[in-house]
Amino acid sequence: MNKVKVLVVFGTRPEAVKMAPIVKALKNDEEHFISKVCVTAQHRDMLDQVLKIFDIEPDYDLNIFQSGQTLTQITCRALSGLEGVIEEFKPDLILVQGDTTTVFSGALAAFYHQVKIGHVEAGLRSGNLYSPYPEEANRMLTGVLTDFHFAPTQTSKNNLLREGYDENKIFITGNTSIDALGWVIDKNYKFSEEALNNIDFEKKKVILLTAHRRENIGEPMENIFSAVRRAAEENKDVEVIYPMHLNPKVREIARKLFDGMENVHLIEPLDYLPFTNLMSKCYLVVTDSGGVQEEAPSLGKPVLVVRKETERPEGISAGTAKLAGTDGQVIYNELNILINNEEEYKKMANAVNPYGDGMAAMHIIDAIKKKML
Ligand code: UD1
Ligand code: UDP
Repeated sequence: MNKVKVLVVFGTRPEAVKMAPIVKALKNDEEHFISKVCVTAQHRDMLDQVLKIFDIEPDYDLNIFQSGQTLTQITCRALSGLEGVIEEFKPDLILVQGDTTTVFSGALAAFYHQVKIGHVEAGLRSGNLYSPYPEEANRMLTGVLTDFHFAPTQTSKNNLLREGYDENKIFITGNTSIDALGWVIDKNYKFSEEALNNIDFEKKKVILLTAHRRENIGEPMENIFSAVRRAAEENKDVEVIYPMHLNPKVREIARKLFDGMENVHLIEPLDYLPFTNLMSKCYLVVTDSGGVQEEAPSLGKPVLVVRKETERPEGISAGTAKLAGTDGQVIYNELNILINNEEEYKKMANAVNPYGDGMAAMHIIDAIKKKML
């Protein structure tokens, strides 16, 4: 029997987390697949953290990372690096995941070589090309080139149908982030990070903060951090933990706005294991991250989404997430309610999972087998 040659391409932390279950599923099915992993390394440290946890050794590493990289530099370096890999491995299918610039470059490289494309996490839309920026465009541009759209939910499938995509090429699979999450949460997890070990999760209301979006850098991010600071100043039972993204622009704003705060802990990005276990132990989450918005509902953690739009409305419909925007006063008010109003808190703290059955990777490789063997 012929085997499908699959090249799995990714470059950043969230892509690595969400591709890991697919990489494993392909390797476990050698009867049907010859698979290789190519990392662009758009991220270096934050990517390597995830590769280590999931024990993935890339077959190709384009090592494109440059500090302060521009979107053009990422695109050009990834596109030209991928050319050699595609010519050498000659895949039948290239898989990309999500909405980063690596995803768009991977899809474009595949298209230039007339290799079929599978887009994992297809069809999410905010409806605003500039928010998230450039991710909304990356996802749409990738969609145009895609042969198999792996939509996590019915909502994302509907978005694709509305744009005129052929229903036979769309598969509802769930989100692979839920597969990955199922592997790592441990009730008895002990942190090795000192800052986390010293926190009493029973007595303190721990707010887990993450923020990194390009369109938030500047005033919106200052508003977000100021609101969190005010809530931390006024509520002494609150502890804020912010594993800072490595983007120097983000870190500069965080250091300025949280200066002198004893109950705000600015720490280095956490490995996936401590990060997800911290999420499962915390009181609430404040984030502009895409992946964290998907993970927190499964763990029953209220999420304030500090963005103007979200392409992930499912958590909001399910009642665990609220779109708080980037106005400081609004964010502060929402925080205050969740910190001080038990009834309102309980309404949001329900474990719901609108993102699939935790078997998304299997659904994806089954669809590939059906279509390509
Ligand atoms: C990228 C993705 C974004 C995704 C995010 C996940 C694009 C355009 N953006 O944004 O969709 O949500 O990753 O985190 O594809 N840096 C390091 N080391 C690292 C990673 C980043 O130092 O391991 C610093 C560098 O200074 C780099 C900057 O962060 O220039 C920004 O990295 P970049 O990949 O360009 O964008 P992100 O904001 O990380
Ligand atoms: N994450 C992590 N360590 C951290 C922060 C996040 O491992 O310190 C994980 C998180 O669990 C999720 C993913 O990284 O799986 C989200 O990445 P990020 O927020 O950088 O990107 P986005 O999802 O917004 O594209």
